[in-house]
Amino acid sequence: MTDETCQHSPEGSGSGLLRPGLLGPGLLGPGLVGWREATERALYGEGGFYLRPEGPAGHFRTSVHASPLFAGAVARLLTEVAARLGPGPVDLVDVGAGRGELLTGVLAALPEDFPVRAYAVERAARPAGLDERVEWRAAVPGRVRGLLFANEWLDNVAVDVAEADEDGVARLVLVRPDGTEVLGEPVSGADAAWLARWWPLSEPGARAEIGWPRDRAWAGAVGALEAGLAVAVDYAHTRQTRPPFGTLSGFWGGREVAPVPDGSCDITAHVALDACALPGAELVTQREALAGLGVSGGRPPLSLATSDPAAYVRALARAGEAAELTSRGGLGDFLWLRQRV
Ligand SMILES: C[S@@+](CC[C@H](N)C(=O)[O-])C[C@H]1O[C@@H](n2cnc3c(N)ncnc32)[C@H](O)[C@@H]1O
Repeated sequence: MTDETCQHSPEGSGSGLLRPGLLGPGLLGPGLVGWREATERALYGEGGFYLRPEGPAGHFRTSVHASPLFAGAVARLLTEVAARLGPGPVDLVDVGAGRGELLTGVLAALPEDFPVRAYAVERAARPAGLDERVEWRAAVPGRVRGLLFANEWLDNVAVDVAEADEDGVARLVLVRPDGTEVLGEPVSGADAAWLARWWPLSEPGARAEIGWPRDRAWAGAVGALEAGLAVAVDYAHTRQTRPPFGTLSGFWGGREVAPVPDGSCDITAHVALDACALPGAELVTQREALAGLGVSGGRPPLSLATSDPAAYVRALARAGEAAELTSRGGLGDFLWLRQRV
C-alpha cells in the first residue's frame, strides 16, 4: 500500500470550523454528516477500512499482537471462569476479533483437552487458514456460558462528536469525506442526555465523543452472557480524566494520522468506559488485571543466568514483552471493564 491511498487533509479535525447558522445550509457543501455516520461508512461500508484483507494488524499493534503472553493471560482467565462455573464446556467469545489472532493464541495456550467452544464475532470475513475449531460469526451468540472478551472493540463502535461553540452551546460536529468539519445544530435528545450525564461541555472549543452507542453495544454483548464474565479492554477515560478536546484520531500504517472518513484509515476514539459499566462492574488498569493473571514485567533473578543461561534469556524476553503489556503511558494504562454475570 502506498501513501496515496491515505489522503489526509492537513486541516484535519477540530480546525477551521464553520457555523452553519452564519453561512446558511446551502453553502455548507455536499457530503456533510455526523461523525457516527461518516465513521460507520468509512470503517465498515463498501471498501471500508476494517474489511480490507490486511486487517487491523496491518496498521497497528494491539496487546494481542504485542505478545503471546496476552493470549496466555486470557487462557488463564478462561480456566478461572470455567472453574467457577463448574463441570461442562465453556464458551470463549471474542468480540471484534480482528483476524482471530487472540482466539488462535488462547487455543494454543489451553490444555489440549480443555472443553471450549470458541466464537469470533467480527464484521470482516473469516480469514483463510483459521483454526477450524473457531466459529466465525457476525453477531454474539445467545446464552453464552463462559468468557466474553472484547479487546479494542468499543473504540471502533462509531460515535458522534460534539463541540461547544463560542457561546458554550454543544453542537453536533459535521464532517465531509475529506475530514473538514462544520458545526451543526445544538445536540438534542439522547445525545444531549448522554453528554449532560457523562461528559458535560461548556468551555468554547471543548469537544466530546458522544458515547451512548458504545454503552448500548456493550450492554447488548453482556446481555448475551447467561453465566460467566464479560471483559472489555480499551484505551479509555473516566469522568475524572475526560480529555478536554476529545480523542478522535486516525491510524494508518503504524502511525497516527488526521481522522479522514474516506475509508483510507482507522477512525477511533478513546472509550468512556465508566459510562459503559453496568451495575456491579469493576474497572481496573491492564497493569493490575495482568498482574492478577501472572503477567508482570519483573526481571528474572541474575542467579538464573549462571545456573541456566538459556532459561534466563527466555525469561528476559518474556519480561520485556510483559513490560510492554503493562507499561505506564502505554498498554498498561488501558482499562479492563469486568462484568460478572
Ligand atoms: C481495533 S480492532 C481489534 C482487533 C482485535 N480484537 C485485537 O485486539 O487485535 C477492532 C475490530 O472490531 C471489529 N468490529 C467493530 N465493530 C464490530 C461489531 N459490531 N461486531 C463485530 N466486530 C466489530 C472491527 O472490524 C475490527 O476488526
